[in-house]
Amino acid sequence: MKSKLCIAALLVAFTSLPAFAQQSAKIDPAVVERYVKSAFPKVPEGWQSRVDQDETQRVCTQYHNEPPKAEFDKILAREKAAVVYPADGKVIGNWKEGQKVAQNGRGGQFSDPPGTVSGGNCYGCHQLSGTEVSFGTLGPSLRSYGKDRKFDPAEAKLTYAKIYNSNSVLPCSNMPRFGYHKVLTEQQIKDAVAYLFDPESPVNK
Ligand code: HEC
Repeated sequence: MKSKLCIAALLVAFTSLPAFAQQSAKIDPAVVERYVKSAFPKVPEGWQSRVDQDETQRVCTQYHNEPPKAEFDKILAREKAAVVYPADGKVIGNWKEGQKVAQNGRGGQFSDPPGTVSGGNCYGCHQLSGTEVSFGTLGPSLRSYGKDRKFDPAEAKLTYAKIYNSNSVLPCSNMPRFGYHKVLTEQQIKDAVAYLFDPESPVNK
């Protein structure tokens, strides 16, 4: 146990050394690209874009997810513009359907049978309902999310944008860009927003 802690401390020390950062920045992006591509030699039709980085991902990789202010602002502007809001202006759907989206971690694999409905796997990274005991902690707890924000419609709209494209709120976020990458449909995103913003949702109980 003690030695594990020491290793952890060492790793922390190493990763925060500027010399280490400089060294890793010297890696040729073209070489990384080549390795990533060679790891997926048989990408199915229409999936190629998933191994190609967009401009934001490229910049986030370049700066190890800590872009300087000017780049940060550029990403924010670009990713905000990439959010597609519902044509009917309503960002809140059905919380019961949203719960299914939050619990479902399936989809997005090329071995999936046709017609597989993709989920958002929100519980993989977030606490949401107080009665669900199994959840990940990579993201912050979303308990009482809507209630804490007084069910403010402007906050609900921002949350739609967050789920649609996490980078439109926080550049280089670790959270998937569900709408932007077409993992979730517009309706599923609305339902996920409802899970967070409906007063009847277990998230707010
Ligand atoms: C792979 C992990 C991961 C998954 C899956 C994930 N998130 Fe996140 N989420 C994060 C992380 C990390 C943050 C904190 C950084 C940030 O704000 O981008 C976050 C932040 C958020 C926030 C902003 C919280 C705040 O501080 O106001 C909301 C809202 C949110 N997530 C909702 C969701 C919903 C809804 C889903 C499912 C559709 C989901 N997340 C799926 C990792 C994830």
